[in-house]
Amino acid sequence: MADATWWQRGVIYQIYPRSFMDADGDGVGDLPGILARLDHLTWLGVDAVWLSPVHPSPMDDFGYDVSDYTDVDPVFGTLADLDALVAAAHRRGLRVLLDWVPNHTSDRHPWFQASRASRDDPRRDWYIWRDPRPDSGPPSNWLRYIGDSAWCWDERTGQFYYRVFLDSQPDLNWRNPQVQEAMFDTLRFWLARGVDGFRIDALIVLVEDDRLRDNPPNPGYRPGQDLPYLRELSIWNVDRPETRELAARMRKVVDEFGDDRVLLAELGLPLETAVAYYGPDGSGIQVPFNFELLTAAWEARGIAAYVDRYLAALPAGAWPNWVLGNHDTPRVASRLGPAQARVAAMLLLTLPGTPILYQGEELGLVDVPIPAEQALDPLARLLPGRGRDPERTPMPWDAGPGAGFTTGRPWLPVGEDNLARNVAAQRDDPASMLGLHRRLLGLRRAAPALTGGYEPLEADGDVLAYLRTGPGGPYLVALNLGPGPAHLAVPTPPGGGRVLVSTRPDRDGEEVGASLELRGDEGVVVG
Ligand code: GLC
Repeated sequence: MADATWWQRGVIYQIYPRSFMDADGDGVGDLPGILARLDHLTWLGVDAVWLSPVHPSPMDDFGYDVSDYTDVDPVFGTLADLDALVAAAHRRGLRVLLDWVPNHTSDRHPWFQASRASRDDPRRDWYIWRDPRPDSGPPSNWLRYIGDSAWCWDERTGQFYYRVFLDSQPDLNWRNPQVQEAMFDTLRFWLARGVDGFRIDALIVLVEDDRLRDNPPNPGYRPGQDLPYLRELSIWNVDRPETRELAARMRKVVDEFGDDRVLLAELGLPLETAVAYYGPDGSGIQVPFNFELLTAAWEARGIAAYVDRYLAALPAGAWPNWVLGNHDTPRVASRLGPAQARVAAMLLLTLPGTPILYQGEELGLVDVPIPAEQALDPLARLLPGRGRDPERTPMPWDAGPGAGFTTGRPWLPVGEDNLARNVAAQRDDPASMLGLHRRLLGLRRAAPALTGGYEPLEADGDVLAYLRTGPGGPYLVALNLGPGPAHLAVPTPPGGGRVLVSTRPDRDGEEVGASLELRGDEGVVVG
């Protein structure tokens, strides 16, 4: 499997382990469950899985609050289960990436327990402790994600500690070289066990200004619409130059283990700043997430313009990537509706760059409404309306009890609508959403041009069109992002071609001449 570019041609599938497959009947997914379902992923045709965190955790933030970076939480299994999963995945040619949460630990991590115990503890400086200002207010005006002060008062030692997320997720002090080395060692621990790389959580908030300068107000803030922390321009505590340097050092650690390991990173920055994380001469993160499709208005001209702008902004040698859904964002089928979710899948899997596919999107799953009083995600309480349970519900594998996900009671409901979209019901139907994904993934593998060159085509109205070029190509991709019929007045691949995959399968194989009629909500790959 030694191939330094596998992640450029490949498709990365995000597994949310709590909700993928439960092997022991406790209602929560686990590692043996994932292992038991690996054949779904190889059948589907993805190249790698990224697992959301599986480390020991009090689960205040469902694993994004880590209390031990080098072990596995019993709810997910054991270290031996993870080793077995990696080995089984590798036997099938699938890579395994773990989620690495460097910005903060759980407050129950032994490091924080020591740090919090006394001002003199050797671990005190592993976190960010500061005295109040003379007016007894917090040390700076910085806001945390939910919009209140990012400083949390700790009575025991009479100081504030800094935290961007929950009180129980204190930020590590990445200015401390001991913290850096301890955290780099956690990467080495997993790399030595054969893990193929990491998705870095919340990278942009890693380091803050050491002089604690106050952030200015954000003149563009739209109350009620924007997240409340956006009322400040977070220039002193987000995306600091030191963070970019540390990203390059993370990359060096990963490269100690060969050139086929990969780093993905969650940023959530505007495109022009996000691309800086590729680093000078590609020395940084190989896949700094491009989140545009998570929030972009679903409008062909806007998306076409964004694709151009993104590709133009990439530094030389940088490889693009696309994210359509994840465990923090409403599901694509709920955002766009079922017909456009199919078009979006075709877009994701044919744009130039690495697609990142969130578990269940291949089934067209929708958000499952969770009443406020049953919400489990802490954000549902802290930022009403922003709870993330709806997109984290279990995978429906079949229509039986527990949806084939569990023999117990699922930790979140599967949802009636999603139950009907189960894997077994779609698997043999090439016209299904699952069938569409499988056909697109199969085509990507069979047709090198689909991961080769890219040429945007002139189109108007709701149509987005481009060529993918290279050996065996070119292929034309034409997507109608609107509900009405549309005409594409561009020549199809020289000499014409056939519809290889359509989002509306009654058209597969149809000959296409010098122009193309698209029905509403239809996307086609012609080659
Ligand atoms: C990232 C994760 C999110 C988590 C947060 C804090 O944004 O994707 O799920 O709550 O970081 O770790």
